[in-house]
Parts: sequence; C-alpha cells; structure tokens
Amino acid sequence: MEYPYQIKTFEEYQKNYKESVENPEKFWGDVADNFFWRKKWDKVLEWNFKEPKIEWFKGAKLNITENCIDRHLETMGEKPAIIWEPNNPEERTRVVTYSRLHKRVCQFAQVLLNNGVKKGDRVCIYMGMVPELAYAVLGCARIGAIHSVIFGGFSAQSIADRLYDANAEFIVTCDGAYRGGKAIPLKSIIDDALIGNRTVKKVIVYTRTRTPVSMLKGRDIWWEDEMEYAEAQIEKDNVITMPATEMDAEDPLFILYTSGSTGKPKGVVHTCGGYMVWTGYTFVNVFQYKPGEVHFCTADIGWITGHSYILYGPLSAGATSVMFEGIPTYPDAGRFWDIVDKYKVNILYTAPTAIRSLMSYGMDPLKGKDLSSLKVLGTVGEPINEEAWHWYDENIGKHNCPVVDTWWQTETGGILISNLAGVTPSKPSWATLPMPGVQPVLVDERGKEITEPDEHGLLKGNLCIKAPWPGILRTTYGDHERCRTNYFASYENLYFTGDGALKDKDGNYRITGRVDDVLNVSGHRIGTAEVENAINMHTNVVESAVVGFPHNIKGQGIYAFVITEKNTHEDERAKNDILETVARIIGPIAKPDKIQFVNGLPKTRSGKIMRRILRKIAEGETENLGDTTTLLDPGIVDEIKQNKV
Ligand code: WTA
Repeated sequence: MEYPYQIKTFEEYQKNYKESVENPEKFWGDVADNFFWRKKWDKVLEWNFKEPKIEWFKGAKLNITENCIDRHLETMGEKPAIIWEPNNPEERTRVVTYSRLHKRVCQFAQVLLNNGVKKGDRVCIYMGMVPELAYAVLGCARIGAIHSVIFGGFSAQSIADRLYDANAEFIVTCDGAYRGGKAIPLKSIIDDALIGNRTVKKVIVYTRTRTPVSMLKGRDIWWEDEMEYAEAQIEKDNVITMPATEMDAEDPLFILYTSGSTGKPKGVVHTCGGYMVWTGYTFVNVFQYKPGEVHFCTADIGWITGHSYILYGPLSAGATSVMFEGIPTYPDAGRFWDIVDKYKVNILYTAPTAIRSLMSYGMDPLKGKDLSSLKVLGTVGEPINEEAWHWYDENIGKHNCPVVDTWWQTETGGILISNLAGVTPSKPSWATLPMPGVQPVLVDERGKEITEPDEHGLLKGNLCIKAPWPGILRTTYGDHERCRTNYFASYENLYFTGDGALKDKDGNYRITGRVDDVLNVSGHRIGTAEVENAINMHTNVVESAVVGFPHNIKGQGIYAFVITEKNTHEDERAKNDILETVARIIGPIAKPDKIQFVNGLPKTRSGKIMRRILRKIAEGETENLGDTTTLLDPGIVDEIKQNKV
C-alpha cells in the first residue's frame, strides 16, 4: 500500500500546511481521494462554529470497515492486522490476519443483526483488551450501529449513567478481564449497572476468564453460540458475504464519554467520513508508517487513543497493530520491552505516566531485551517532563528514534499538534507544530489573541483552534447545546481546548496542561466536580473540594479537602470509606491520593470556593497565596495550611 499523502520533508510539511490553510477543500479532497468511498462527496466542507455545525465530505457514502478491512483483502489478506499479546506471557499469542479480521467482523455484525440491532442503535461495549473487542467495535461499524466503548476500570454506576445517556439497548461484555494479577468480573459489574435499567434488551457475553456469571434468561446470551450460528449464515464455500451498511459521511460512528469541568461526562460524537480521513492521515504522517512495520500503541481501547491508533488509523493504513491485554508491570517491569523484542515492534506509542513508572524501576528490566527494531517513539495523554523525554530517547530509542510528542483530545478525534517523526524537528517536552489543517491560536481570558511575548520570549495563553479539521467532534450525544457551551461559547468563532500553551518564536507549541477544572491523572481525564460529587455521596460528608497536585509518576494526583459531619480527623477508616465510595461511584481511577479533613473551605462572600488557594496548598506552596481578603473567613486558610497532608 502506498500513502501519496505522506509528508517526507520539512519543506513539504511547510508547503502542505500552507495549502491546507489557504484551500482546505482542495487539500482535504485530495487526501480523501486515497480512502475508500462508495460515493464521493458533493462538497468537502461546510461549517460554522456558532451553532456549531460542521460537515465534512458532505453527500459522500462509505463504510469505514470497507476502508479498514475489505480494501486490503486482495493484496494483504494474509498479513497480520492485529497481533494480540495476552496478559499472561505464557499464554498463546493470537495473530489476526486481515482476512480473519474480515471474517470475524462480518460474523459479529451478523450476530448484531440477528439480535435486532439496527443502523443508528447504540451498542455499549465493556470488555477487556481481547481481539473480540476489536470485532465488536468494527462489527458495529459494519452495520452502522453506534458503538460506545466504556473503559473496564469504570464502576457499575458510571456504566449505568452512560447507558442511560446513550439510551443504549445492547451491551457486549466479557465474563471477566485479566489485568496484571487480577481478574475483573466485568459481567457482574454489568449486572449491577443494569439494576433498574429499562432500555437494554440484550447482553452478549464473551468468555475470557471463566469467572462464574449469572445469565438472565431472554436477556443474556453467549458470544460463542451466537458467533457459531452467524458463521453458517455468512460463509458459503469459504466465501464470506456480509455486506457493509452504506453510511453517510456525517452519520455518527461512535460515542465516547469523557470528563469535562462540570457535571457528568459527555458523550463525544464522531462521524464516519471525517474521522476516517483524520485518523488515517495522522497515523501515516506522525509515525511515518511504512508498509510492513509493526505498530504498538499501549493504550486501552476504552480511551480515544485506542480507538484511533490501535484500531481505525492503523487498520485504514493496512498496518500491523499490536494489542496488549495486560499492564506494563506484569509479570515484571520489563513487559513492554519483551513485547517490543518478541514482535520486532517498529513504532512504540505510550503515555508519559507509563514512561515515568518504568523509569522508576531502573535499567534492570531492560537487560537482555533487543530493542533494535524500534524506529519511532511516541507519547500522548499529558505533558511529558524533560527527564522522562530524555530517558525515553536515550534508553529506549538509543538516540536513534525520533520521539513524537502528540497533543490531542477525545474531542479532536486524532493528533492535532506533533512533530512528524524524523521529518519535522523535535523539541523535548514540546508538542511542536500543528498538523496540516490545524490552526491554533493563543488567547487571553477575554479571547484576545496573545501577541506580546513574555520575559522568555514566549507567547502564553489559552489554546484555541480557528477552523475545523476533519476529525473534530460534531456534537455531544443528545445535547447539542452542551457541545456549544463547552467548546464553542468561551470565545467567539473558536474551538476552545481547555488547555493552556506556550508558543516559541519558531511556531512550536508546548502544552502546559488544563486551565479548567479537569485533572489528568496517569493520562486519564477526570473532572474535579465529578470526584466531589462522588465524595459528597458518602454519608458522613458535608462538603468537599478537589484539586490536582504534581505527582511524580501520575503527572497529577487528586487532593481532596473534606468537611465531615462528625469530627473524624485522623480517622483512617473514614478515609478508606470515602475512597471506597469514589471507587463505587466512578471507578478506582478516580480515588483521591490525599484526603485532608477540614473544618471549612476558603469561600468568597458569595459562597464560591477559592480553588486557587487550595491548589497552591496542595502543591505545597503555603506562602504567596495571593489576595485572601475577600474570603468569608480568612482564618480557615491557616488552619488548612497547618494540617496539610
Ligand atoms: C492532555 C487523550 C500535553 C491535554 C488523547 C488534553 C496532553 C487532554 C498531550 C486530553 C500532550 C494529551 N501533551 N498534554 N502530548 N496529549 N494531553 O481526551 O490536557 O483523554 O486536553 O485525550 O490530555 O485527554 P483525552
């Protein structure tokens, strides 16, 4: 397979960038010509950020699975699409070729049809990282059902909220999932999530861990039985026929829930055409993928990174994608390096938090591991500190592999700011330059463009984007107004990212982190309001305030200031009860690292919590707390400082 849109030199990048901004319709029309469409578009782009209304490749017809699978069958049918590495290294690897992937996806699509799933229906997928998860996702896409994958670390309550919001009628899950030394009972969590649920009609259960499960008559069915039945329907004389449903370019492909600064997580909606082009284009350009190379993205498919760079991006390029069931430290901290060695991985794409965690084990886990196949290293999910960047570059890349620091978000569908491996320059801890089609701008609180450099010669402001790229979110499910107010209302005619950034004189961007009330804990997005709501559910809690603080490995940790009804200071049990409550309501990933019991919170006279002060205290800065004269009770600040944990 060839990628005529792959940028090969810095000059070419500059030329492409210029063209993409000056004539986006021509530029993206030319790129999109390299993808598989049943019918081409009538118009490449129509948009306004006011409503917002964004339409790419208007009038085009396609099915993304024909682009990601069918079109490769003739020339690459026997090439591995997915190499699956189990949690337990002693267990057998599974290699899924493109033709096998085709068969399984068609089979599962037929299973969905057999169970009454129709185009546009929402199918919630709650599974571990097994190949069947890929079949489920792509099976939905094949018949135009909207998949909504939920990360295996979320609690029953979180799942219930998402099922309700998406009005989902179908669930695909596993009996359990292996993660390191643990087996998580997914089906039983689903059972809890379904208590009181009135919309879900069918639950399809794949057997992975052989954990005992309760199967409800009429509702719960086994994956294996269904697949066997479907096989006979779609296969005759070794020929597989299961036509893909024709989709409009702007039909929804999936919903993925993500945390914002207020309230419950929102269902970010991506559509078929633009998302396909954006993930395919960015995959081939950022990682400079060459046919035959092995790509290993360590993310979970429960997050956007897994959607875009384990499944859709690599598969649309006909790449070989490694899918890993386990965790980086099981059975030991050399696991990633074993996988790189075993499959001769060429591209490794992981998160700064994983790098920092592995760094802390020293060099021993690297001994005897052949990493010479590596060509490109990537990071995503949070700002990477220089120390981690250099460790990655030196010890993993041996100064031979360009490091791409890729900045993007669930809402952006794919990478927006990153160097292109070996093509555009890298700069440690800087995401560097925007992708073609991406027009960043830094603004102040009032939306005025920042033009005056600070004392270091850098521009500093809130990061916005001026115009749409094909992978931008189209709406938030069931509540378009929420999409508008969240992303398009802060500043007129701009998409606001929620991130702060610096820009140097060469046009490079450095993302400094969220400027809203969203935390980034081990690369997972968590809203402070969400955590506060969960803490406040605990019976003894009166009020709480949650802020982030710098954490050596997680990037950010969660610090909770809690007022309780009875005086439970120093009470370890009370702390553990609160942690348990948060794990129940959201999931273990949202458990606070620190809990401090307080008698009051610093509030303004209008009752607003001054988080700025709490953030400083959590960061360990107890001097220079700024103006505290507007506080209702300035004395409370001293008390909180003194009892800091
Ligand atoms: C942060 C993950 C600095 C950022 C793909 C963003 C980053 C949030 C980087 C989105 C990076 C992601 N450098 N910060 N290279 N990549 N972020 O939706 O704050 O899970 O807004 O998408 O992660 O997280 P999300």
